[in-house]
Amino acid sequence: MTRHLITSALPYINGVKHLGNLIGSMLPSDLYARYLRARGEEVLFICATDEHGTPAELAAREAGQAVEEFCAEQHKVQADLGEAFNLSFDHFGRSSSPQNKELTQYFGNKLRENGFIEERVTRQVYSIEDERFLPDRYVEGTCPHCGYDKARGDQCENCTRLLDPTDLLEPRSAVSGSTNLEVRESKHLFLLQSKLADEIRTWVNKHADWPVLVSSIALKWLDEGLHDRGITRDLKWGVPVDMPGMEDKVYYVWFDAPIEYISATKEWADEDPGNRDWKSWWYEADDVRYVQVMAKDNVPFHTVTFPGTELGSREPWKMVDFIKGFNWLNYYGGKFSTSQKRGIFMSDAIELLPADYWRYYLLANAPESSDASFTWDGFAGTVNKDLADTLGNFVNRALKFCASKFGNEIPEGGEMGALEKKLGEDLNARLASYNANMQDMQIRKAMQDLRAIWVMGNEYLTEAAPWTAFKTDPEAAAVSLRVAINLMRIFAILSAPVIPLTSQRLSEALKLNLTAEDWIEGDCYEALQVLPAGHGFDIPEVLFRKISDDDVAAWETRFGGAG
Ligand code: 2FM
Ligand code: ZN
Repeated sequence: MTRHLITSALPYINGVKHLGNLIGSMLPSDLYARYLRARGEEVLFICATDEHGTPAELAAREAGQAVEEFCAEQHKVQADLGEAFNLSFDHFGRSSSPQNKELTQYFGNKLRENGFIEERVTRQVYSIEDERFLPDRYVEGTCPHCGYDKARGDQCENCTRLLDPTDLLEPRSAVSGSTNLEVRESKHLFLLQSKLADEIRTWVNKHADWPVLVSSIALKWLDEGLHDRGITRDLKWGVPVDMPGMEDKVYYVWFDAPIEYISATKEWADEDPGNRDWKSWWYEADDVRYVQVMAKDNVPFHTVTFPGTELGSREPWKMVDFIKGFNWLNYYGGKFSTSQKRGIFMSDAIELLPADYWRYYLLANAPESSDASFTWDGFAGTVNKDLADTLGNFVNRALKFCASKFGNEIPEGGEMGALEKKLGEDLNARLASYNANMQDMQIRKAMQDLRAIWVMGNEYLTEAAPWTAFKTDPEAAAVSLRVAINLMRIFAILSAPVIPLTSQRLSEALKLNLTAEDWIEGDCYEALQVLPAGHGFDIPEVLFRKISDDDVAAWETRFGGAG
Protein backbone atom coordinates (compact mmCIF):
# COMPACT_ATOMS: atom_id res chain seq x y z
CA MET A 1 0.00 0.00 0.00
CA THR A 2 1.13 3.53 -0.76
CA ARG A 3 2.40 5.62 2.15
CA HIS A 4 1.89 9.37 2.00
CA LEU A 5 4.65 11.81 2.87
CA ILE A 6 3.39 15.39 3.06
CA THR A 7 5.49 18.46 3.76
CA SER A 8 4.41 22.04 4.22
CA ALA A 9 6.85 24.79 3.23
CA LEU A 10 8.78 25.69 6.34
CA PRO A 11 7.72 29.00 7.90
CA TYR A 12 10.53 31.46 8.57
CA ILE A 13 11.39 31.85 12.22
CA ASN A 14 11.38 35.66 12.12
CA GLY A 15 7.94 36.24 13.65
CA VAL A 16 4.36 35.03 13.91
CA LYS A 17 2.95 34.01 10.54
CA HIS A 18 0.01 35.79 8.92
CA LEU A 19 -3.09 34.30 7.35
CA GLY A 20 -1.44 34.44 3.93
CA ASN A 21 1.35 32.15 5.18
CA LEU A 22 -1.23 29.87 6.77
CA ILE A 23 -3.29 29.36 3.61
CA GLY A 24 -0.18 29.27 1.41
CA SER A 25 1.14 26.00 2.82
CA MET A 26 0.43 24.88 6.39
CA LEU A 27 -3.36 24.78 6.29
CA PRO A 28 -3.90 23.11 2.90
CA SER A 29 -1.27 20.50 3.68
CA ASP A 30 -3.02 19.83 6.98
CA LEU A 31 -6.33 19.45 5.16
CA TYR A 32 -4.81 16.89 2.84
CA ALA A 33 -3.09 14.99 5.67
CA ARG A 34 -6.27 14.87 7.70
CA TYR A 35 -8.31 13.79 4.71
CA LEU A 36 -5.98 10.90 3.91
CA ARG A 37 -5.80 9.80 7.53
CA ALA A 38 -9.59 9.91 7.74
CA ARG A 39 -9.64 7.46 4.88
CA GLY A 40 -7.31 5.12 6.69
CA GLU A 41 -4.17 5.96 4.71
CA GLU A 42 -0.72 5.94 6.29
CA VAL A 43 0.48 9.53 6.44
CA LEU A 44 3.60 11.29 7.67
CA PHE A 45 3.08 15.05 7.81
CA ILE A 46 6.20 17.14 8.40
CA CYS A 47 6.85 20.81 8.97
CA ALA A 48 9.51 22.85 10.80
CA THR A 49 10.70 26.37 11.36
CA ASP A 50 13.20 27.68 8.82
CA GLU A 51 15.70 29.22 11.20
CA HIS A 52 18.83 30.28 9.34
CA GLY A 53 19.60 33.29 7.20
CA THR A 54 20.08 37.01 7.69
CA PRO A 55 16.39 37.82 8.45
CA ALA A 56 16.58 35.56 11.52
CA GLU A 57 19.78 37.21 12.69
CA LEU A 58 18.35 40.68 12.23
CA ALA A 59 15.07 39.83 13.93
CA ALA A 60 17.03 38.46 16.89
CA ARG A 61 19.12 41.60 17.03
CA GLU A 62 15.97 43.74 16.95
CA ALA A 63 14.55 41.67 19.80
CA GLY A 64 17.80 42.15 21.73
CA GLN A 65 18.39 38.41 21.93
CA ALA A 66 21.08 35.98 20.93
CA VAL A 67 19.97 34.30 17.74
CA GLU A 68 19.83 30.82 19.34
CA GLU A 69 17.65 32.11 22.12
CA PHE A 70 15.42 34.03 19.71
CA CYS A 71 14.92 30.97 17.51
CA ALA A 72 14.15 28.68 20.42
CA GLU A 73 11.53 31.11 21.70
CA GLN A 74 9.96 31.77 18.32
CA HIS A 75 9.89 28.09 17.50
CA LYS A 76 7.78 27.52 20.58
CA VAL A 77 5.49 30.42 19.65
CA GLN A 78 4.96 28.99 16.17
CA ALA A 79 4.52 25.43 17.43
CA ASP A 80 1.86 26.60 19.91
CA LEU A 81 0.04 28.56 17.22
CA GLY A 82 0.14 25.53 14.95
CA GLU A 83 -1.56 23.56 17.69
CA ALA A 84 -4.11 26.28 18.25
CA PHE A 85 -5.05 26.03 14.57
CA ASN A 86 -5.14 22.25 14.83
CA LEU A 87 -2.34 21.73 12.33
CA SER A 88 -1.78 18.02 12.69
CA PHE A 89 1.96 17.81 12.01
CA ASP A 90 3.47 14.49 12.97
CA HIS A 91 6.54 16.54 13.68
CA PHE A 92 7.24 20.27 13.76
CA GLY A 93 11.00 20.45 13.63
CA ARG A 94 13.76 23.05 13.49
CA SER A 95 16.20 23.57 10.67
CA SER A 96 18.83 24.44 13.29
CA SER A 97 18.70 20.86 14.60
CA PRO A 98 21.80 18.65 14.81
CA GLN A 99 20.09 16.30 12.37
CA ASN A 100 19.90 19.05 9.77
CA LYS A 101 23.50 20.02 10.32
CA GLU A 102 24.54 16.43 9.71
CA LEU A 103 22.42 15.93 6.59
CA THR A 104 23.19 19.33 5.07
CA GLN A 105 26.91 18.66 5.44
CA TYR A 106 26.36 15.18 4.05
CA PHE A 107 24.68 16.53 0.91
CA GLY A 108 27.30 19.27 0.53
CA ASN A 109 30.11 16.70 0.63
CA LYS A 110 28.32 14.29 -1.73
CA LEU A 111 27.75 17.04 -4.28
CA ARG A 112 31.37 18.03 -4.07
CA GLU A 113 32.55 14.42 -4.42
CA ASN A 114 30.37 14.10 -7.50
CA GLY A 115 31.79 17.22 -9.10
CA PHE A 116 28.73 19.44 -8.68
CA ILE A 117 30.32 21.89 -6.26
CA GLU A 118 33.38 24.02 -6.83
CA GLU A 119 35.11 26.84 -4.98
CA ARG A 120 35.08 30.33 -6.47
CA VAL A 121 36.31 33.67 -5.21
CA THR A 122 33.66 36.39 -5.04
CA ARG A 123 33.81 40.08 -4.31
CA GLN A 124 31.40 41.23 -1.66
CA VAL A 125 30.53 44.27 0.36
CA TYR A 126 32.00 44.17 3.89
CA SER A 127 30.76 46.52 6.61
CA ILE A 128 33.63 47.43 8.85
CA GLU A 129 31.43 48.73 11.65
CA ASP A 130 29.08 45.74 11.57
CA GLU A 131 32.09 43.41 11.27
CA ARG A 132 30.35 41.36 8.63
CA PHE A 133 29.82 40.79 4.95
CA LEU A 134 26.49 42.19 3.81
CA PRO A 135 24.16 40.16 1.63
CA ASP A 136 23.19 42.18 -1.47
CA ARG A 137 19.80 43.17 -0.14
CA TYR A 138 21.34 44.58 3.02
CA VAL A 139 23.29 47.16 1.11
CA GLU A 140 21.14 50.24 0.50
CA GLY A 141 21.80 53.37 -1.49
CA THR A 142 20.73 55.57 -4.37
CA CYS A 143 19.69 53.91 -7.63
CA PRO A 144 22.01 54.98 -10.48
CA HIS A 145 19.09 54.69 -12.94
CA CYS A 146 16.22 56.55 -11.26
CA GLY A 147 17.75 58.27 -8.25
CA TYR A 148 15.54 56.44 -5.72
CA ASP A 149 17.42 56.75 -2.43
CA LYS A 150 16.27 53.50 -0.79
CA ALA A 151 17.30 51.08 -3.53
CA ARG A 152 18.52 47.70 -2.35
CA GLY A 153 21.74 46.11 -3.54
CA ASP A 154 19.88 43.38 -5.43
CA GLN A 155 17.13 45.46 -6.99
CA CYS A 156 15.63 48.93 -7.09
CA GLU A 157 12.03 48.58 -6.06
CA ASN A 158 11.20 51.94 -7.61
CA CYS A 159 12.31 51.25 -11.19
CA THR A 160 12.57 47.42 -10.73
CA ARG A 161 16.02 47.29 -12.35
CA LEU A 162 18.26 44.51 -11.09
CA LEU A 163 21.34 45.90 -9.44
CA ASP A 164 24.70 44.88 -8.13
CA PRO A 165 25.51 46.39 -4.70
CA THR A 166 28.54 48.11 -6.22
CA ASP A 167 26.22 49.99 -8.63
CA LEU A 168 24.62 51.92 -5.77
CA LEU A 169 25.57 55.54 -5.20
CA GLU A 170 26.31 56.42 -1.59
CA PRO A 171 25.97 52.85 -0.36
CA ARG A 172 25.24 52.15 3.30
CA SER A 173 24.64 49.15 5.49
CA ALA A 174 20.94 48.37 5.97
CA VAL A 175 21.90 46.75 9.24
CA SER A 176 23.43 49.78 10.93
CA GLY A 177 23.29 52.60 8.40
CA SER A 178 27.08 52.74 8.38
CA THR A 179 28.72 54.01 5.20
CA ASN A 180 32.07 52.58 6.19
CA LEU A 181 31.96 49.81 3.58
CA GLU A 182 34.51 48.15 1.38
CA VAL A 183 34.60 45.37 -1.18
CA ARG A 184 36.45 42.27 -0.04
CA GLU A 185 37.20 38.99 -1.67
CA SER A 186 35.81 35.82 -0.19
CA LYS A 187 35.90 32.16 -1.19
CA HIS A 188 32.59 30.37 -1.64
CA LEU A 189 31.09 27.08 -2.72
CA PHE A 190 29.09 27.15 -5.94
CA LEU A 191 26.52 24.55 -6.88
CA LEU A 192 27.01 23.79 -10.57
CA GLN A 193 23.36 23.71 -11.44
CA SER A 194 24.15 24.20 -15.10
CA LYS A 195 25.60 20.67 -15.14
CA LEU A 196 22.35 19.29 -13.76
CA ALA A 197 19.91 21.33 -15.85
CA ASP A 198 19.10 18.64 -18.40
CA GLU A 199 18.46 16.05 -15.75
CA ILE A 200 16.24 18.43 -13.81
CA ARG A 201 14.27 19.26 -16.93
CA THR A 202 13.76 15.59 -17.78
CA TRP A 203 12.54 15.00 -14.25
CA VAL A 204 10.16 18.02 -14.35
CA ASN A 205 8.79 16.87 -17.69
CA LYS A 206 7.85 13.53 -16.21
CA HIS A 207 5.25 15.26 -14.04
CA ALA A 208 2.45 16.10 -16.42
CA ASP A 209 -0.05 16.15 -13.55
CA TRP A 210 1.48 19.16 -11.78
CA PRO A 211 -0.67 22.29 -11.63
CA VAL A 212 0.15 24.78 -14.41
CA LEU A 213 1.18 27.36 -11.80
CA VAL A 214 3.92 24.99 -10.66
CA SER A 215 5.16 23.56 -13.94
CA SER A 216 5.16 26.95 -15.66
CA ILE A 217 7.39 28.47 -12.96
CA ALA A 218 9.73 25.46 -13.10
CA LEU A 219 10.01 25.58 -16.88
CA LYS A 220 10.46 29.34 -16.93
CA TRP A 221 13.47 28.97 -14.64
CA LEU A 222 14.89 26.16 -16.73
CA ASP A 223 14.28 28.06 -19.98
CA GLU A 224 16.06 31.11 -18.66
CA GLY A 225 19.09 28.89 -18.05
CA LEU A 226 20.23 27.59 -14.69
CA HIS A 227 23.08 29.58 -13.28
CA ASP A 228 25.61 28.15 -10.89
CA ARG A 229 24.67 29.39 -7.45
CA GLY A 230 26.70 30.36 -4.43
CA ILE A 231 25.52 28.12 -1.63
CA THR A 232 27.67 29.45 1.21
CA ARG A 233 27.70 32.70 3.16
CA ASP A 234 30.12 34.51 5.45
CA LEU A 235 27.90 34.32 8.50
CA LYS A 236 28.09 32.73 11.91
CA TRP A 237 24.51 31.57 12.11
CA GLY A 238 23.77 28.58 9.90
CA VAL A 239 25.02 25.09 9.14
CA PRO A 240 28.83 25.31 9.20
CA VAL A 241 30.66 24.12 6.12
CA ASP A 242 32.86 21.18 7.18
CA MET A 243 35.52 21.55 4.49
CA PRO A 244 39.13 22.66 4.87
CA GLY A 245 39.59 26.36 4.28
CA MET A 246 35.88 27.06 4.74
CA GLU A 247 35.87 27.32 8.52
CA ASP A 248 34.07 30.67 8.73
CA LYS A 249 31.34 29.85 6.26
CA VAL A 250 27.85 28.49 6.64
CA TYR A 251 25.55 27.03 4.01
CA TYR A 252 23.05 29.41 2.47
CA VAL A 253 19.64 29.13 4.12
CA TRP A 254 17.95 27.95 0.90
CA PHE A 255 20.42 25.08 0.69
CA ASP A 256 19.73 23.72 4.16
CA ALA A 257 16.00 24.53 4.42
CA PRO A 258 14.61 21.86 2.06
CA ILE A 259 17.07 19.31 3.45
CA GLU A 260 15.27 19.94 6.74
CA TYR A 261 12.26 18.08 5.30
CA ILE A 262 14.43 14.97 5.55
CA SER A 263 16.14 16.02 8.76
CA ALA A 264 12.82 16.79 10.46
CA THR A 265 11.74 13.25 9.63
CA LYS A 266 14.90 12.09 11.34
CA GLU A 267 14.15 14.35 14.32
CA TRP A 268 10.73 12.65 14.48
CA ALA A 269 12.26 9.18 14.33
CA ASP A 270 14.94 10.01 16.89
CA GLU A 271 12.19 10.76 19.41
CA ASP A 272 11.12 7.11 19.33
CA PRO A 273 13.85 5.12 17.59
CA GLY A 274 12.37 1.73 18.51
CA ASN A 275 9.18 2.42 16.57
CA ARG A 276 9.97 4.99 13.94
CA ASP A 277 12.17 4.82 10.91
CA TRP A 278 13.00 7.93 8.90
CA LYS A 279 15.02 6.43 6.11
CA SER A 280 12.29 4.23 4.68
CA TRP A 281 10.33 7.45 3.96
CA TRP A 282 13.19 9.07 2.10
CA TYR A 283 15.62 6.56 0.67
CA GLU A 284 14.64 4.01 -1.97
CA ALA A 285 11.11 4.82 -0.89
CA ASP A 286 9.24 3.52 -3.91
CA ASP A 287 6.05 2.91 -1.96
CA VAL A 288 5.89 6.55 -0.83
CA ARG A 289 3.91 9.26 -2.60
CA TYR A 290 5.49 12.58 -1.66
CA VAL A 291 3.41 15.77 -1.82
CA GLN A 292 4.76 19.27 -1.13
CA VAL A 293 2.62 22.33 -0.48
CA MET A 294 3.88 25.91 -0.87
CA ALA A 295 3.24 29.45 -2.11
CA LYS A 296 4.40 30.36 -5.60
CA ASP A 297 7.59 32.16 -4.56
CA ASN A 298 8.89 28.86 -3.18
CA VAL A 299 8.26 26.87 -6.35
CA PRO A 300 11.69 27.39 -8.00
CA PHE A 301 13.50 26.10 -4.95
CA HIS A 302 11.38 22.95 -4.89
CA THR A 303 11.24 22.21 -8.60
CA VAL A 304 14.79 23.11 -9.52
CA THR A 305 17.22 23.75 -6.67
CA PHE A 306 16.34 21.05 -4.15
CA PRO A 307 15.78 18.41 -6.87
CA GLY A 308 19.25 19.39 -8.13
CA THR A 309 20.67 18.69 -4.67
CA GLU A 310 18.97 15.32 -4.58
CA LEU A 311 19.90 14.31 -8.13
CA GLY A 312 23.46 15.51 -7.70
CA SER A 313 23.93 13.25 -4.67
CA ARG A 314 23.68 10.32 -7.10
CA GLU A 315 21.76 8.47 -4.43
CA PRO A 316 18.13 7.34 -4.52
CA TRP A 317 16.61 10.04 -2.32
CA LYS A 318 12.86 10.39 -2.51
CA MET A 319 11.89 13.19 -4.86
CA VAL A 320 8.59 15.00 -4.79
CA ASP A 321 5.73 13.42 -6.74
CA PHE A 322 3.17 16.21 -6.60
CA ILE A 323 3.51 19.90 -5.79
CA LYS A 324 0.56 22.04 -4.82
CA GLY A 325 1.37 25.70 -5.29
CA PHE A 326 -0.63 28.73 -4.20
CA ASN A 327 -0.95 32.31 -5.32
CA TRP A 328 -1.09 35.16 -2.79
CA LEU A 329 -3.76 35.95 -0.32
CA ASN A 330 -3.81 39.71 -0.15
CA TYR A 331 -5.20 41.95 2.53
CA TYR A 332 -7.62 44.41 0.94
CA GLY A 333 -5.83 44.09 -2.35
CA GLY A 334 -2.39 44.91 -0.87
CA LYS A 335 0.16 42.51 0.50
CA PHE A 336 0.15 40.94 3.92
CA SER A 337 3.49 41.97 5.30
CA THR A 338 5.42 40.61 8.26
CA SER A 339 7.92 43.44 8.30
CA GLN A 340 5.24 46.15 8.03
CA LYS A 341 2.87 44.25 10.34
CA ARG A 342 0.10 44.60 7.78
CA GLY A 343 -2.82 42.18 7.85
CA ILE A 344 -3.93 39.54 10.32
CA PHE A 345 -1.47 37.32 12.13
CA MET A 346 -2.20 33.88 13.50
CA SER A 347 -1.93 35.12 17.08
CA ASP A 348 -4.52 37.88 16.46
CA ALA A 349 -6.87 35.60 14.58
CA ILE A 350 -7.03 32.93 17.24
CA GLU A 351 -7.69 35.54 19.88
CA LEU A 352 -10.78 36.71 17.98
CA LEU A 353 -12.40 33.43 16.99
CA PRO A 354 -11.78 29.68 17.21
CA ALA A 355 -9.63 28.04 14.55
CA ASP A 356 -12.47 26.46 12.58
CA TYR A 357 -13.87 29.85 11.48
CA TRP A 358 -10.51 30.70 9.92
CA ARG A 359 -9.84 27.24 8.58
CA TYR A 360 -13.09 27.07 6.67
CA TYR A 361 -12.96 30.64 5.41
CA LEU A 362 -9.37 30.36 4.23
CA LEU A 363 -9.81 26.99 2.55
CA ALA A 364 -13.05 28.06 0.86
CA ASN A 365 -11.23 31.12 -0.48
CA ALA A 366 -7.83 29.60 -1.11
CA PRO A 367 -5.78 31.56 -3.69
CA GLU A 368 -5.62 28.65 -6.08
CA SER A 369 -6.14 29.85 -9.63
CA SER A 370 -5.30 33.48 -8.90
CA ASP A 371 -4.49 35.78 -6.01
CA ALA A 372 -7.35 36.24 -3.55
CA SER A 373 -8.14 39.07 -1.20
CA PHE A 374 -9.12 38.99 2.44
CA THR A 375 -11.76 41.46 3.55
CA TRP A 376 -13.59 41.49 6.87
CA ASP A 377 -16.92 41.73 5.03
CA GLY A 378 -16.11 38.69 2.96
CA PHE A 379 -14.99 36.80 6.03
CA ALA A 380 -18.18 37.68 7.95
CA GLY A 381 -20.33 36.76 4.94
CA THR A 382 -18.78 33.30 4.59
CA VAL A 383 -18.88 32.55 8.30
CA ASN A 384 -22.45 33.73 8.75
CA LYS A 385 -23.85 32.05 5.68
CA ASP A 386 -22.01 28.76 5.46
CA LEU A 387 -21.01 28.01 9.02
CA ALA A 388 -23.69 29.68 11.16
CA ASP A 389 -26.79 29.55 8.93
CA THR A 390 -26.17 26.42 6.91
CA LEU A 391 -24.30 24.01 9.15
CA GLY A 392 -24.81 25.35 12.67
CA ASN A 393 -28.45 26.23 12.32
CA PHE A 394 -29.37 22.87 10.81
CA VAL A 395 -27.81 21.01 13.72
CA ASN A 396 -29.29 23.13 16.46
CA ARG A 397 -32.78 23.49 15.14
CA ALA A 398 -33.22 19.79 14.34
CA LEU A 399 -31.78 18.58 17.65
CA LYS A 400 -33.77 21.11 19.66
CA PHE A 401 -37.00 20.23 17.93
CA CYS A 402 -36.35 16.52 18.33
CA ALA A 403 -35.55 16.90 22.03
CA SER A 404 -38.67 18.97 22.66
CA LYS A 405 -41.04 16.52 20.96
CA PHE A 406 -39.40 13.14 21.46
CA GLY A 407 -36.70 13.58 24.11
CA ASN A 408 -32.94 13.23 23.75
CA GLU A 409 -32.99 10.03 21.75
CA ILE A 410 -33.56 9.29 18.11
CA PRO A 411 -37.30 8.54 17.94
CA GLU A 412 -38.97 5.41 16.57
CA GLY A 413 -40.49 6.06 13.17
CA GLY A 414 -41.42 4.29 10.01
CA GLU A 415 -39.53 3.55 6.81
CA MET A 416 -37.66 6.04 4.68
CA GLY A 417 -39.33 7.04 1.43
CA ALA A 418 -38.76 8.78 -1.88
CA LEU A 419 -37.39 11.96 -0.32
CA GLU A 420 -34.68 10.00 1.49
CA LYS A 421 -33.89 7.98 -1.62
CA LYS A 422 -33.32 11.22 -3.50
CA LEU A 423 -31.23 12.57 -0.61
CA GLY A 424 -29.08 9.44 -0.71
CA GLU A 425 -28.51 9.87 -4.45
CA ASP A 426 -27.65 13.55 -4.15
CA LEU A 427 -25.23 12.76 -1.37
CA ASN A 428 -23.59 10.02 -3.42
CA ALA A 429 -22.94 12.42 -6.28
CA ARG A 430 -21.56 15.20 -4.09
CA LEU A 431 -19.44 12.88 -2.03
CA ALA A 432 -17.87 11.41 -5.17
CA SER A 433 -17.00 14.93 -6.26
CA TYR A 434 -15.71 15.86 -2.77
CA ASN A 435 -13.46 12.80 -2.71
CA ALA A 436 -12.14 13.46 -6.21
CA ASN A 437 -11.42 17.10 -5.44
CA MET A 438 -9.77 16.30 -2.12
CA GLN A 439 -7.56 13.70 -3.77
CA ASP A 440 -6.57 16.19 -6.48
CA MET A 441 -6.13 18.95 -3.87
CA GLN A 442 -8.67 21.12 -5.68
CA ILE A 443 -9.37 22.88 -2.47
CA ARG A 444 -11.95 25.49 -3.38
CA LYS A 445 -13.94 22.94 -5.32
CA ALA A 446 -13.79 20.48 -2.43
CA MET A 447 -15.08 23.20 -0.10
CA GLN A 448 -17.93 23.92 -2.52
CA ASP A 449 -18.82 20.23 -2.40
CA LEU A 450 -18.75 20.20 1.38
CA ARG A 451 -20.96 23.26 1.56
CA ALA A 452 -23.38 21.71 -0.93
CA ILE A 453 -23.54 18.66 1.34
CA TRP A 454 -24.35 20.86 4.35
CA VAL A 455 -27.04 22.64 2.31
CA MET A 456 -28.74 19.28 1.78
CA GLY A 457 -29.50 19.21 5.52
CA ASN A 458 -31.57 22.36 5.48
CA GLU A 459 -33.20 21.51 2.17
CA TYR A 460 -34.18 18.12 3.45
CA LEU A 461 -35.70 19.56 6.62
CA THR A 462 -37.57 22.20 4.65
CA GLU A 463 -39.11 19.54 2.43
CA ALA A 464 -39.76 16.97 5.14
CA ALA A 465 -41.01 19.75 7.47
CA PRO A 466 -41.14 17.73 10.69
CA TRP A 467 -42.55 20.77 12.54
CA THR A 468 -45.78 20.62 10.58
CA ALA A 469 -45.76 16.87 10.00
CA PHE A 470 -45.58 16.34 13.75
CA LYS A 471 -49.12 17.64 14.21
CA THR A 472 -50.73 15.19 11.82
CA ASP A 473 -48.20 12.39 11.37
CA PRO A 474 -45.68 12.15 14.22
CA GLU A 475 -44.21 8.95 12.73
CA ALA A 476 -43.24 10.81 9.57
CA ALA A 477 -41.73 13.61 11.67
CA ALA A 478 -39.77 11.00 13.59
CA VAL A 479 -38.36 9.50 10.38
CA SER A 480 -37.17 12.82 9.13
CA LEU A 481 -35.51 13.63 12.47
CA ARG A 482 -33.81 10.26 12.50
CA VAL A 483 -32.53 10.94 9.00
CA ALA A 484 -31.50 14.49 9.94
CA ILE A 485 -29.47 13.19 12.88
CA ASN A 486 -27.85 10.61 10.64
CA LEU A 487 -27.03 13.44 8.27
CA MET A 488 -25.30 15.21 11.15
CA ARG A 489 -23.16 12.13 11.64
CA ILE A 490 -22.25 12.24 7.95
CA PHE A 491 -21.44 15.95 8.26
CA ALA A 492 -19.24 15.32 11.30
CA ILE A 493 -17.27 12.69 9.40
CA LEU A 494 -16.90 14.55 6.12
CA SER A 495 -16.17 17.94 7.69
CA ALA A 496 -13.48 16.70 10.07
CA PRO A 497 -10.50 17.47 7.81
CA VAL A 498 -11.74 21.06 7.43
CA ILE A 499 -13.20 21.97 10.84
CA PRO A 500 -11.82 19.30 13.16
CA LEU A 501 -12.89 20.86 16.43
CA THR A 502 -16.49 21.41 15.37
CA SER A 503 -16.65 17.88 14.01
CA GLN A 504 -15.43 16.67 17.34
CA ARG A 505 -18.05 18.68 19.20
CA LEU A 506 -20.75 17.42 16.89
CA SER A 507 -19.68 13.81 17.22
CA GLU A 508 -19.58 14.18 21.01
CA ALA A 509 -23.11 15.61 20.97
CA LEU A 510 -24.16 12.58 18.94
CA LYS A 511 -22.30 10.28 21.33
CA LEU A 512 -20.07 8.92 18.61
CA ASN A 513 -16.47 7.88 18.68
CA LEU A 514 -15.47 8.38 15.07
CA THR A 515 -12.43 6.68 13.56
CA ALA A 516 -11.11 6.12 10.05
CA GLU A 517 -13.42 3.07 9.89
CA ASP A 518 -16.37 5.46 9.79
CA TRP A 519 -15.55 7.30 6.55
CA ILE A 520 -18.57 7.09 4.27
CA GLU A 521 -17.42 4.54 1.71
CA GLY A 522 -20.52 2.88 0.33
CA ASP A 523 -23.96 4.11 -0.65
CA CYS A 524 -25.01 7.20 1.29
CA TYR A 525 -28.54 5.83 1.50
CA GLU A 526 -27.10 3.21 3.85
CA ALA A 527 -25.21 5.87 5.77
CA LEU A 528 -28.53 7.59 6.49
CA GLN A 529 -29.54 4.54 8.53
CA VAL A 530 -26.51 3.95 10.72
CA LEU A 531 -27.84 5.53 13.91
CA PRO A 532 -30.95 3.66 15.04
CA ALA A 533 -33.94 4.73 17.09
CA GLY A 534 -32.99 4.95 20.74
CA HIS A 535 -29.50 6.40 20.07
CA GLY A 536 -29.01 9.31 22.49
CA PHE A 537 -27.75 12.82 21.82
CA ASP A 538 -27.05 16.10 23.59
CA ILE A 539 -27.73 19.52 22.19
CA PRO A 540 -24.39 21.25 21.66
CA GLU A 541 -23.79 24.92 22.34
CA VAL A 542 -24.30 26.98 19.19
CA LEU A 543 -21.67 25.63 16.79
CA PHE A 544 -20.81 28.97 15.15
CA ARG A 545 -21.64 32.45 16.31
CA LYS A 546 -22.59 35.09 13.81
CA ILE A 547 -20.25 37.94 13.09
CA SER A 548 -22.06 41.25 13.45
CA ASP A 549 -21.64 44.49 11.52
CA ASP A 550 -20.20 45.94 14.71
CA ASP A 551 -17.54 43.21 14.82
CA VAL A 552 -16.62 43.95 11.24
CA ALA A 553 -16.35 47.68 11.92
CA ALA A 554 -14.29 47.13 15.05
CA TRP A 555 -11.92 44.70 13.39
CA GLU A 556 -11.52 46.90 10.33
CA THR A 557 -10.46 49.72 12.61
CA ARG A 558 -8.17 47.56 14.71
CA PHE A 559 -6.41 45.87 11.79
CA GLY A 560 -6.54 48.77 9.37
CA GLY A 561 -9.02 47.53 6.78
CA ALA A 562 -9.90 49.31 3.61
CA GLY A 563 -7.57 52.25 4.20
O1 2FM B 1 9.34 31.22 1.99
C1 2FM B 1 9.50 30.76 3.10
O2 2FM B 1 8.75 31.03 4.03
C2 2FM B 1 10.61 29.77 3.34
N1 2FM B 1 10.97 29.77 4.72
C3 2FM B 1 10.18 28.43 2.87
C4 2FM B 1 11.18 27.34 3.00
S1 2FM B 1 10.52 25.90 2.41
C5 2FM B 1 11.69 24.74 2.49
F1 2FM B 1 12.40 24.65 1.47
F2 2FM B 1 12.32 24.73 3.55
ZN1 ZN C 1 15.78 52.73 -9.67
